[in-house]
Amino acid sequence: MSFNQQTEGLHVEGLSLASVADQYGTPCYVYSHAALTGAWRAWADALAGRNALVCYAMKANSSLAILEVFAQLGSGFDIVSAGELERVIAAGGDPARVVFSGVGKSRQDIERALAAGILCFNVESYPELLRIEAIAAAQRTRARISVRVNPDVDAGTHPYISTGLRENKFGVPFAEALTLYRHAHASTHLEVVGVDVHIGSQITELAPFLEALERTIAFADGLAAEGIGIHHLDLGGGVGIRYRDEEPIIPADYIEAVWQRLGKRPWQVLFEPGRSLVGNAGVLLTRVEYLKVGAERHFAIVDAAMNDLLRPSLYEAWHDIRPVSQRAGTPIEYDVVGPVCESGDFLGRARALSIAEGDLLAVMSAGAYGMSMSSNYNSRPRAAEVLVDGTTTHLIRERESVKDLFRGEHLIGG
Ligand code: LLP
Repeated sequence: MSFNQQTEGLHVEGLSLASVADQYGTPCYVYSHAALTGAWRAWADALAGRNALVCYAMKANSSLAILEVFAQLGSGFDIVSAGELERVIAAGGDPARVVFSGVGKSRQDIERALAAGILCFNVESYPELLRIEAIAAAQRTRARISVRVNPDVDAGTHPYISTGLRENKFGVPFAEALTLYRHAHASTHLEVVGVDVHIGSQITELAPFLEALERTIAFADGLAAEGIGIHHLDLGGGVGIRYRDEEPIIPADYIEAVWQRLGKRPWQVLFEPGRSLVGNAGVLLTRVEYLKVGAERHFAIVDAAMNDLLRPSLYEAWHDIRPVSQRAGTPIEYDVVGPVCESGDFLGRARALSIAEGDLLAVMSAGAYGMSMSSNYNSRPRAAEVLVDGTTTHLIRERESVKDLFRGEHLIGG
């Protein structure tokens, strides 16, 4: 087990989290190398011998060393900005295995990605298609494109992370997508290479994926019938993980079901998993600053806050919170909150904990959309990040300094 309870406390691989906190301080994100590679293998093993490519959706965690781990395993990447592309390159990833998603690609984004020779732009609107075409013409090249279709499927997930319904800003309805494909097919500066779909995140059932898949296959068959052949089908990300008691689908079952439905179609299949590759490979380590007895509730005020891990505040997401060392005594119900000046700043509510000031807590399942969504709100430097491999620690990101936060700011003088 990557994170395991031993008599001397909670461990990450062969090291106690307490020793990691001693060495690097808190708040601190701690990742398990074995958990990252294990999660990768769940996809890679099931895809062995199939014509497929995993493009890690790096928005889930874009720290360079995390990308490096996946790049070395042969991963491609799903990016949403030129900034993410630079990270892929800096981490040793291959731009030829990069797909570019997102509804608002800027001119600079497109120019950079085209020059870097990415695998495919996942196009989200007609104006975007025209912009990519114009930029490709200016660079005297051809841009490889897929259109992200919106299959109008309910992913049954939190409304903020559901994307495959007609009312969402994402994707293009099938009828309109056909117009885009005809345009692209006729263009000398565009090359149709795929069809793309992504319906949401933290999806725990197979049914919505398969519904979207079937509709998308039918659409791609229709394209083929018009002579618009494709090379790949990009099925996006969205496979959920266990935070509490969810019973998420496993990649192998999903993959098996996909190939059953593909039949003899010769397409390569791309997947863009984010959360399922990193979510349970990281924890946020934090220390109790104060225990405060309020009129209605007890508060455990810790040194991590919503700026470090936004998910509880933004989605009311539930993360397990475990004491790093067990303490005797009757547990008390605490709201675990941070120092940020917002009532919405909490990491967990009504948690029965037996703790004292100075104790360490581990906020579990924080590897995805944790560090990558962190901010400097309240002028809080961002946390350090440590990757543990066996008993070896790698400081993969230094704790930010307050001086880092001033960089690029100017007084007006006078
Ligand atoms: N592909 C596309 C086009 C996406 O928009 C996303 C996630 C993914 C792949 C990866 O999805 P995953 O496998 O990680 O579910 N911040 C939210 C999640 C936002 C997901 C955005 N798009 C959270 O903390 O739950």
